[in-house]
Amino acid sequence: MSDKAILEINGEKYEFPVITGTENEVAIDIKALRGSTKGVITLDPGYKNTGSCESAITFLDGEKGILRYRGYSIEELAEKADFLEVAYLLIFGELPTQEQLDKFHADIKSHSVVDDDIKKILDAFPKSAHPMGVLASLTSALTAFNPTSVNVDSEEEMYNAIVRILGKFPILVAWTMRKKHGMPLDYGSSSLGYVENILQMMFKNPTSDYEQNPILINALDKLLILHADHEQNCSTSTVRITGSSHAGLFVSLAAGISALWGPLHGGANQAVLEMLEAIKEDGGDTKKYMAKAKDKNDPFRLMGFGHRVYKNFDPRAKIIKVAANEVLSDLGVEDPILDIARGLEKEALEDPYFVDRKLYPNVDFYSGIIYRAMGIPVEMFTVMFALGRLPGWIAQWREMRLRKEPIGRPRQLYTGETYRPFKSIEKR
Ligand code: CMC
Repeated sequence: MSDKAILEINGEKYEFPVITGTENEVAIDIKALRGSTKGVITLDPGYKNTGSCESAITFLDGEKGILRYRGYSIEELAEKADFLEVAYLLIFGELPTQEQLDKFHADIKSHSVVDDDIKKILDAFPKSAHPMGVLASLTSALTAFNPTSVNVDSEEEMYNAIVRILGKFPILVAWTMRKKHGMPLDYGSSSLGYVENILQMMFKNPTSDYEQNPILINALDKLLILHADHEQNCSTSTVRITGSSHAGLFVSLAAGISALWGPLHGGANQAVLEMLEAIKEDGGDTKKYMAKAKDKNDPFRLMGFGHRVYKNFDPRAKIIKVAANEVLSDLGVEDPILDIARGLEKEALEDPYFVDRKLYPNVDFYSGIIYRAMGIPVEMFTVMFALGRLPGWIAQWREMRLRKEPIGRPRQLYTGETYRPFKSIEKR
């Protein structure tokens, strides 16, 4: 592979360096393009061909269906690690020693409380509010109560902001759900593991002790690990670009939560379950919905299918499919929509429309079935995605700040009116 790319415009030749990543991915470095060509830019809506940064956090090969955090395969991490270890790995680059992990957890626990006035903000939301909107608002509001988390430059200041949000975010997640269900707010217990505490904060009944169920702990640990990072996706790019203006960590995360909410991104897990329910209510006719998904005049898409990067099985979906079978059988739950999901998957994988476009089940296709079996309401599914993605967003934000990346500010190709003189209102 040449180390130069040559671009010819109007007979003039320009040379740009070709750079290669550690996994042999190749990029043309066009940093000098606009300057040397006196104004020419690239146009790439949806950034399908644009690398926005160099990153050493997550590697994914969409053709081969490979996903690795800091070099470790998602399959091994999902089987052998717990969520807090993975969070540490993503953020700081190495798996923690026991001592490092204990300190990290202790630091997080020391911030696992939010200002009581947050309850007043939560109270102002109607019960009907979507939990993602509430979570984004509360995460942003945390800034007001933790002003030292905003102007962070040193690694120490960043660390303090990071352990704060890792301590406080699960509280917001749990409270968002409890508020919706009219349950009193709970702080959990610092004697519990990170994931156990999340379950207790979400589900503890006010009048009885919460009994931990190892099946639920394992399932949630696995789901959170599988969602923990996915390189420069829509919400992560949002976090990086928001943070690039040196807005604080918490508001950058709030921006990421808003980006995640949409049904083409994290909101797909809610949309999948609603779709499967609708198919069930409609008599279970999967063929009818397959036909709708293929009809270009119908806006319906098969939710949980397709991915911008994966043109093969999403490795996370493979793990989640197996986990869904295990969790439902361990919990003794029979859910007819699991059969509908399996049926849809089988049909899609044999259908030329899906095969030709390389559309495979993604991470969201089976995750909702597990969340539902765990007793998590459907409107909370994307919130659970956000909880899992938190360390990834943090790691990407930290990397962006430590690399002193410039403010994110794309260009555009203007296609509007050229100059025209102002027309007074009576002449319009
Ligand atoms: N159902 C039916 N057709 C589809 C689907 C689908 N789920 N996904 C893509 N296509 C078709 C699309 O119509 C297009 O067809 P054509 O070439 O004839 O115009 C072709 O496949 C390529 O799709 P695209 O929309 O150009 O691809 P994209 O990379 O812009 O979009 C996507 C990726 C994930 C937004 C899209 O596949 C989709 O909308 N999927 C359903 C929503 C979903 O499950 N999202 C979760 C993604 S994984 C979680 C995460 O966000 O990290």
